[in-house]
Amino acid sequence: MKLTQFLLKNSSIPKQALVDRFSKFSPSPLSMKQFIDFGSANACEKTSFVFLRQELPVRLANIMKEIDFLPDKLLSTPSLQLLQSWYATSLMELVGFLEKDPDNKTILKKFTETLVNVRNRHNNVVPTMAQGVVEYKEAFGSDPVTNQNVQYFLDRFYMSRISTRMLMNQHSLIFDGSANPAHPKHIGTIDPDCDVTEVVKDAFDSSKMLCEQYYLTSPEIDITQVNAQSDLYYFVISSSNVLFCFQNAMRATVETHEMALHLPPVKVRVSLGSEDLTIKISDRGGGVPLRKIERLFSYMYSTAPSPVDIDNSRNAPLAGFGYGLPISRLYAKYFQGDLQLYSMEGYGTSAVIYLKALSSDSVERLPVYNQSAIRHYQTSNEADDWCMPSKDPKKLGKYERRSQ
Ligand SMILES: Nc1ncnc2c1ncn2[C@@H]1O[C@H](COP(=O)(O)OP(=O)(O)OP(=O)(O)O)[C@@H](O)[C@H]1O
Ligand SMILES: [Mg+2]
Repeated sequence: MKLTQFLLKNSSIPKQALVDRFSKFSPSPLSMKQFIDFGSANACEKTSFVFLRQELPVRLANIMKEIDFLPDKLLSTPSLQLLQSWYATSLMELVGFLEKDPDNKTILKKFTETLVNVRNRHNNVVPTMAQGVVEYKEAFGSDPVTNQNVQYFLDRFYMSRISTRMLMNQHSLIFDGSANPAHPKHIGTIDPDCDVTEVVKDAFDSSKMLCEQYYLTSPEIDITQVNAQSDLYYFVISSSNVLFCFQNAMRATVETHEMALHLPPVKVRVSLGSEDLTIKISDRGGGVPLRKIERLFSYMYSTAPSPVDIDNSRNAPLAGFGYGLPISRLYAKYFQGDLQLYSMEGYGTSAVIYLKALSSDSVERLPVYNQSAIRHYQTSNEADDWCMPSKDPKKLGKYERRSQ
């Protein structure tokens, strides 16, 4: 069932009209500087409230429109039905604040409570979406993520989710009246004087702990700060992309050097330029052939045994969901950075995380529902525009007529 039908069936209020109305607006990306201004000493709860009560419905409605483009068979899985009901309910709750008085303290308090409820309702969106893909696979025997449209959708869907959670977290952390005693300088989830090398070391330690629990051994780190620290940049406390890269590097290292007495260390370089902050994580874990690199960013692609099938006597696995790389790349792209893999098959891999050095360049990268997005869903199944080599050797040298 499409979202449109879902909404019409489940209420007398024309919710679909709301989705249509709010999806006509483009989301307004915020810069890191704006996030910080919203949350600094002179932060104004009223301004943030007035912005969010419009912006959150806009971001939700934009992505809800795209959900409708998923294959019908995927949409009709129980998981996708549940997921759509969460989006519809949250949109309704947030729109309920549009006519409310921003000077009324009780309204502001209720709004913050609603944000926390919405955030909690959406906590399990990622595993639920993944479960939907599994249900589809079980029912129809094929993997929907091999469909380019589904991969395109998931990147946009998860990016939208990262952004709405960021907005909701910032508002609720800053305005719920309780400053974070452990980190008085933090602005919501943002640390304005973040020491990147420390964040990298913490991520390494967490990954090392998991690695040792699972494999009973783990490689060391060799970290170099290529140039002097500066306080030019801000860094969101989401070291998860660094962490996921460490987990991959450690797994590859341990599994490739199973018989060796000494594991080659994971080398990390951190470099701050005038435009980019770059973190390079290099391992000697055997590498991946070029042909497979893009596939590694596909959701659910993993060469590790499924964590669900692993016997419980072993500890939490270091890999297996196939979400590490694609999600890490989204976190990097969210503020205009990127994550790229360079590999030498037979030797090792470098994962390079690019982040913007300046807060003014760090602007949210958000999906927008427009004609280009629609065209993408409608046309990406066209034939390839590069020649495919013929597999039949007898045909070599003979000209084939093309069908138009
Ligand atoms: N540094 C690396 N060296 C060799 N192979 C790698 C490396 N990084 C990733 N891979 C390959 O890419 C696959 C996908 O990685 P990804 O992190 O997305 O998922 P995963 O590690 O299998 O599971 P998880 O979601 O738990 O991270 C891995 O299963 C592995 O085969
Ligand atoms: Mg991984």
